[in-house]
Amino acid sequence: MKIKKIAAVALAAVMAASLLCGCGGSDKSAEATTAASGEATVKTVKDGVLTMATNAYFPPYEYYEGSDIVGIDAEIAKAIADKLGLKLEIQDMEFNSIITAVQSGKADMGLAGMTVTDERKQSVNFSDTYATGIQSVIVKEDSDIGKIDDLNGKKIGVQLSTTGDIYAKDDFGADNVEEYSNGNDAVLALTSGKIDAVIIDNQPAKSFVESTKGLKLLDTDYVQEDYAACLSKDNEELLDAVNGALKELKDDGTIQQILDKYIK
Ligand code: ARG
Repeated sequence: MKIKKIAAVALAAVMAASLLCGCGGSDKSAEATTAASGEATVKTVKDGVLTMATNAYFPPYEYYEGSDIVGIDAEIAKAIADKLGLKLEIQDMEFNSIITAVQSGKADMGLAGMTVTDERKQSVNFSDTYATGIQSVIVKEDSDIGKIDDLNGKKIGVQLSTTGDIYAKDDFGADNVEEYSNGNDAVLALTSGKIDAVIIDNQPAKSFVESTKGLKLLDTDYVQEDYAACLSKDNEELLDAVNGALKELKDDGTIQQILDKYIK
């Protein structure tokens, strides 16, 4: 089983390489890859499908457009899958289920604007980073909160199990932190006056402020972070393949193009 897994990923890598150099009939390689991946009986890259776990309430990284999940991570994952000759399937779930899904093999890769942390590294492998984030603070336009210190004693909303959740509890005490299942719900609680602020990554924060009346972003960089894909510790081959694809996509400017498309 292990050998088949390696074979499928190795073949995908060869396929990616042949795409890169433009040598070899690409139609033939595509057929070969599909056939080989279809044979793979391992829990990862099963049937030639790369499954990505995410939580799709995190614009511009992942969000719904009708019934489709779009955004930076969706496009990067598609580009990685294309490089590896795999189809992409996106699974939307609670943010705090992503790591378990990857660990158990329910998903091959978590891509969710996920911050690399030492604690998460105990459970999963992280790819090379593809973007950076900053924890930011959203408040009501007329709020008396003007800087991070003003959050002392206030009710702070966060998305459950995110780094914003962890920092907020550390810095302001768990009693002052309200955990929501996604960023949208936290922002709704803020607009309805249930909480005083939301701590969330800067790009989703901007997007929520733009789409919701009466909110503003504090002018502060609370914490800087790196985003990466998470993968099972049992599948170093897939980690290598994803890192290889990411490198090519960085070198040829694709990643930057995707970031620029969504972040103005
Ligand atoms: N960067 C933060 C973290 O890793 C938040 C990520 C939330 N992502 C999402 N798709 N909802 O904890």
